[in-house]
Amino acid sequence: MSQVKSVVTAIAMLGVVALSATACASSSSPGGSGGDDVITVGFAQTGSESGWRSANTESIKEAFSAENGFDLIFNAADNKPEAQIAAVRSFINQGVDAIVLAPIVSDGWDDVLKEAKDAGIPVILEDRTVSASEDLYASWIGLDFEQEGKTAGEWVAENFGSKPTNMVILEGTTGSSAATDRQTGFDAAVAGTDITVLDSQTGNFTRAEGKTVMEGFLQKFGSEINVLFAHNDDMGLGALDAIKAAGMKPGTDIQIVTIDAVKDGMTALANGEFNFIVECNPLLGEKTAEVVKSVVAGESVDKTYIVEDQSFTQEQAKEVLDSRPY
Ligand code: AHR
Repeated sequence: MSQVKSVVTAIAMLGVVALSATACASSSSPGGSGGDDVITVGFAQTGSESGWRSANTESIKEAFSAENGFDLIFNAADNKPEAQIAAVRSFINQGVDAIVLAPIVSDGWDDVLKEAKDAGIPVILEDRTVSASEDLYASWIGLDFEQEGKTAGEWVAENFGSKPTNMVILEGTTGSSAATDRQTGFDAAVAGTDITVLDSQTGNFTRAEGKTVMEGFLQKFGSEINVLFAHNDDMGLGALDAIKAAGMKPGTDIQIVTIDAVKDGMTALANGEFNFIVECNPLLGEKTAEVVKSVVAGESVDKTYIVEDQSFTQEQAKEVLDSRPY
């Protein structure tokens, strides 16, 4: 269903930026005129940094299919915040019916969200959040990142809190709500324990950077490290390679706690190379599509929809591994 929109503002016109070659072009014409009942949606994805991200992209593409009444314009910004802002501006100038945004970082969204609002185009956040005022977006569908970090921290506190323990941390993308909130929850859970953080650095949610940063930690601290907390499975998997290359046994010499529960992470957990995983559910597509339909139809929606997560020990991972959908 196409929505009549206010004229795109002059400020938005100034911001016209061609989408990069990585963006898939829409088959619909500007103004969301893909057909009377078709909703044209621009989706600004972070990039393709992790297994979680691939599952999330698939979930969105599946839910926003032509069969479900959507024309999806997809852009992945390669984890560059400026490129993601440019993609959103391009969606505004194409006159889409709605924009779905998985913001790479929390800050810096005020201007372009205001441009979307002035153009009458609703923005629906999925996955991460922004620091901009709530009235600049219609709804957010995501996960409780702080609780994820807290659950990870509680496991570490329970298993290591009462003995002197050295920990290193692989943080997600600096400035992302996923990294900030997870660390806040984790810190609260391990506060007052006997755990010492030797070092904490970003690995940008990628396997390659997780490996490189862990190599540096191992060079500096070697066998002093008892525990690794990685903000996602992919960085933990990169670290796992670094630990093996250093002649140590992941899961035994260094215990590893991560977040996501994607297939490769769960396999490492079932094999005893990871010790605990907190899930971050990437299957947000269906709920997001439902909310977009309601918003475009002028129906009221909640400001926040939180999708529930679980957590897994090694034993639990063995039981559920084959039935995991991603
Ligand atoms: O925002 C969710 C996080 O982003 C996932 O934990 C991570 O794997 C992804 O890249």
